[in-house]
Amino acid sequence: MERREFIKQGAITASGLAILPIDSLFAANKNKVRLGYIGVGERGRNHIAEGLLRDDVEIVAVCDIQELSLKYCRELISKSGKKLPQEYTGGLDVYKKLLDRKDIDAVIIATPWQFHHPQAIDAMNAGKYVGCEVIAGLSVEDHWDIVHTSEKTGIPYMTLENVCYRRDVLAVLNMTRQGLLGELIHLEGGYQHNLRNVLFNDGKNVYGQGVEFGPNALSEAQWRTQFNVDRNADVYPTHGAGPVMQYIDINRGNRFTNLVSFSSKSKGLNTYVEGLAPGNKNAKIDYKNGDVITTMINCANGETVLLLHDTHLPRPYSLGFRVQGTKGLWMDVANSVYIEHLSQKDDEWDPAENWLKKYDHPLWKKYEDKAEGAGHGGMDWFVFNAFVEAVKQKKQTPIDVYDSVTMSVITPLSEKSIKEGNTPQSFPDFTKGKWQNRKNTFALDNSGF
Ligand SMILES: NC(=O)c1ccc[n+]([C@@H]2O[C@H](COP(=O)([O-])OP(=O)(O)OC[C@H]3O[C@@H](n4cnc5c(N)ncnc54)[C@H](O)[C@@H]3O)[C@@H](O)[C@H]2O)c1
Repeated sequence: MERREFIKQGAITASGLAILPIDSLFAANKNKVRLGYIGVGERGRNHIAEGLLRDDVEIVAVCDIQELSLKYCRELISKSGKKLPQEYTGGLDVYKKLLDRKDIDAVIIATPWQFHHPQAIDAMNAGKYVGCEVIAGLSVEDHWDIVHTSEKTGIPYMTLENVCYRRDVLAVLNMTRQGLLGELIHLEGGYQHNLRNVLFNDGKNVYGQGVEFGPNALSEAQWRTQFNVDRNADVYPTHGAGPVMQYIDINRGNRFTNLVSFSSKSKGLNTYVEGLAPGNKNAKIDYKNGDVITTMINCANGETVLLLHDTHLPRPYSLGFRVQGTKGLWMDVANSVYIEHLSQKDDEWDPAENWLKKYDHPLWKKYEDKAEGAGHGGMDWFVFNAFVEAVKQKKQTPIDVYDSVTMSVITPLSEKSIKEGNTPQSFPDFTKGKWQNRKNTFALDNSGF
């Protein structure tokens, strides 16, 4: 869809507010996307590295409040031989100066979670496409703000949910679309990753054996751990929810209707710190966030979804996907597939590999060479490519504003459910009924993203 049409459609569906003409957007070279980056810490620099690999991306400006992050960013760009971007630094609001520039088409936001909402709102109001790292806001109201601003301005907002592009995740999407698993019934996913050395990092080495968090720590330990102190919720739902939403057409013929969350007790972070530094003050904190948060979601079409957040205990990494239908299922923990009458033996698992290879998604077949070596097994290339292509082709982003807020609002909803003694919480219908007629086009778009 041409941007003009997209905006027209946005205007029809928006709440009667005028659409602002965005003069600066796409004023220059139509084959190049001019990017501004807000936050060039660990993740922002991953996206910088993706940008440096492409001839159709110009990194015009970067903003960060810490010299160390800017220094690493400068080094990365210098090594590539590309022109150093203009830097903006000096305070929490300095990103607004970057947004004032007329020569930026889109921004990548990779700051701590609490800044995503205001920065994205300001970016959309300034007419820049927004590619924002996971988590759209902290409260339900924040999520509505994002929707209303995108509708009002006609500017697309995309959560950069890379797991939607994971190779096995896309292969199974391909299988489900070809009916291999039958009608889908139940799905699981989550963020199950031992993050203890990320949450406590004394800054001596990137992922050290530290026990510190807060201003004197490094990277995510500076800010992320505080969420585990303050919130009892699934604080990171999108890696599980994003892919699950694609399998069952959420916001596109289906929708999440309500959820219930449970929290286990919280022992993992105390035990970890006590083990490394007996008696340390951080071993005595009352971390509100339970070690394992379990969320069950109902869907309008009758499927159930189970999401887990499990980052405080020793465990190997696994997002724990399970996609189950009337004919069979895929489970990523067991790395196995079973399809009735097609698997090698009745009631016995096939190694998933055989199936995933056979049903490798066309996007992966097409772009395997380019994605090779990119972060998180290649999926980072795909999510960045999808955003850049949408901006370049003046199209809607494949993960749009409604998808973005739906996967992220699980955090405040799960928090309320737990606080109220595991009460069901209704999902807001951010599409205001449009979910019934929208079609799932994710990874189907013939433009190739
Ligand atoms: N999708 C993924 O796989 C993935 C992986 C890692 C991180 N993330 C997400 O990326 C985001 C950033 O995480 P990270 O690991 O890079 O954290 P980080 O702490 O390494 O980097 C954050 C950067 O933002 C800067 N910053 C803070 N406030 C700012 C402000 N107001 N204006 C400008 N810059 C500001 C900090 O100085 C820092 O350099 C988070 O939302 C995180 O959840 C996603």
